Amino acid sequence: MNGRKFPKIMYGGDYNPEQFPREIWDEDMRLFRLAGIDIATLNVFSWALNQPDEETYRFDWLDEIMNKLHENGIRVCLGTSTAAHPAWMAHKYPDVLTVGYDGRQRKFGRRHNSCPNSPTFRRYAGLMARKLAERYKDHPALLLWHVNNEIGIRCYCGNCEKAFREWLKKRYGALEELNRAWYTRFWGHTFYDWEEIVLPSGLSEGLSGGNSDQTAFQGITLDYYRFNSDSWLECYLIESSAIKEIIPDAVVTTNFQGNGTYKPLDYFKWAAHLDIVALDIYPENHTPESYMAMRYDLMRGLKDGAPFMLMEQSPGVINWKPVNPLKRPGVMRLRSYQAVARGAESVMFFQLRRSLGAYEKFHGAVIDHAGHEHTRVFRECAELGGELRHLGDLLPDSRVTSKVGILFDWDNWWAVELGGGPSAHLKYLDQVQKYYDAFYENGIQVDFIHVGTDLASYDLVVAPVLYMVKPGFAGKLERFVRGGGTFVTTFYSGIANESDLVTPGGYPGELRRLLGIWVEEIDALFPEQKNAIVMKGKLGQLQGSYDCGLICEVVHLEGAEALAEFGKEFYRGRPALTRHRFGKGQAWYAATDPSRDFMRQWIKGLCEDKGISPTLAAPPGVEAVCREKDGIRCQFILNHTDHPQKIDIGEREQRDLLTGALLSGEAELPPKGILILQA
Ligand code: GLA
Ligand code: ZN
Repeated sequence: MNGRKFPKIMYGGDYNPEQFPREIWDEDMRLFRLAGIDIATLNVFSWALNQPDEETYRFDWLDEIMNKLHENGIRVCLGTSTAAHPAWMAHKYPDVLTVGYDGRQRKFGRRHNSCPNSPTFRRYAGLMARKLAERYKDHPALLLWHVNNEIGIRCYCGNCEKAFREWLKKRYGALEELNRAWYTRFWGHTFYDWEEIVLPSGLSEGLSGGNSDQTAFQGITLDYYRFNSDSWLECYLIESSAIKEIIPDAVVTTNFQGNGTYKPLDYFKWAAHLDIVALDIYPENHTPESYMAMRYDLMRGLKDGAPFMLMEQSPGVINWKPVNPLKRPGVMRLRSYQAVARGAESVMFFQLRRSLGAYEKFHGAVIDHAGHEHTRVFRECAELGGELRHLGDLLPDSRVTSKVGILFDWDNWWAVELGGGPSAHLKYLDQVQKYYDAFYENGIQVDFIHVGTDLASYDLVVAPVLYMVKPGFAGKLERFVRGGGTFVTTFYSGIANESDLVTPGGYPGELRRLLGIWVEEIDALFPEQKNAIVMKGKLGQLQGSYDCGLICEVVHLEGAEALAEFGKEFYRGRPALTRHRFGKGQAWYAATDPSRDFMRQWIKGLCEDKGISPTLAAPPGVEAVCREKDGIRCQFILNHTDHPQKIDIGEREQRDLLTGALLSGEAELPPKGILILQA
């Protein structure tokens, strides 16, 4: 592949031909062509097939299928097959087996089953990647590489423990530094030798049940989480560098799991090492559209706005929930375009042909057990395949731009939820989603940013629950606001530093000057409990009283003004929403968790103040997003509802790229309908 740009929105998915006899393969090719499929991910779980014992490698099946795909014009996303180790390896080298949080070593079984610090796993995974690269470096079907699969299990074995100590030595240099960062004088934990340090498992710092977040020492667990993410990144790099030694311009990736918000891996840190970000997403029928939208925007944000791959979604059902309803007609197509609208360069499925046995035999696939093309799911897949072919090279490498940046930070996520805080119901993702939703409901495009992002191109920066303030970040925010930017943050912010040590002198610590407030106390409300945000006057369309809950803080003004106050409790009349004019800009603070209604109006007002407007005035349930490149702007309009929707697309004629029709003025979108307008 030349560069990183795909020739079109690539269409296909995971293909496991090794599970089927050869006769089926030719039929698969016919069906793939019929469905407009042009990419297949191969070799994801075939380590045991490729390497029957320690010395033997055999790739004849892979040669054959790669050639066949090539003959049929289908490109290959080549897995490295290291996502499940062979049984012989576990038998001979038990160090590949992981140890759980409960301290028990697992036996051979399942997949995603290797310890990231197992010398055996690292050696053989690297070797496999090299052998594959040597063999297929000139293969014309090869488009990109897929390392391992849904990486990220946590392991608590002896090798991980040893590696953890080495990781800590690098981070802290001296034990005194570590003792300081971990606050080890608490509960008599002072360490005098690196060898005394053990992993924070259920056998050591774990407080209750199997939840590793419930820890006696947040600092230790936080470092373990960082270490585990880094250990896996090292494994990824072992494979990807083995490939790149042979094929310097190889495009290498791995598929991100947990719908992109997978807690154990710091995907921002990872993305820097990937050539393109790739996402697996498995929403349920009732999953709100903004849930997916947020994850797509986050995937785009991981590499500062670069497009990403939709590596896996189900064309139909999933099989791993207690109840697995069918994806309704039109939904797969609509959701695929939602991903494309927000930056996806591929639409790919798990899986192309349905397995006949074992765990995933009832997971949706393009080709069902019936084995032919006369199914609803196949027909829907083929229609979409035809459309994506028709769209050609217009979309790849186009960008979604925004004046709003929402901060997302894995370290902060970990720290917020590492037990001992005001409420176990306070979840970082919920808060980020809530702020995201307020923009989504107003039709405003946002970017996800990290603490290293240059804020110069943003007018509005939002950092929900910025509990952990990393070195230099408070100063960066001050410069941003001083220069005219608007900054928004919430309760439980500015509390701690990178080591989860509280910043003394009053909350919100390092953000106190910028926000112009001092938070004296933090009250937690039970889920059914509410307080009220009472507006002190009219703020945009906000007036009167709104529900709030979860957290209510007791705030003193130190330069900020209160725009709303609490309606109940002993802190009734104290600030609930504050604004601090700072330099040319403003810093806002929500001292509680407001109702959605409040959020929508508040964020709308903030955007209007900054001249940030939606790409289209769309009714609820209709999503509008723009992708642009070379001055060409494609506007996606997606009707997520089950009713026809009318929208006003303006006076100017625009071409609908799907039908070729020229449209202007009022247009009607059928239920689940899509327009892609080129202006
Ligand atoms: C994940 C995996 C796939 C498959 C699907 C099923 O995304 O990567 O191998 O198991 O889940 O939904
Ligand atoms: Zn381990």
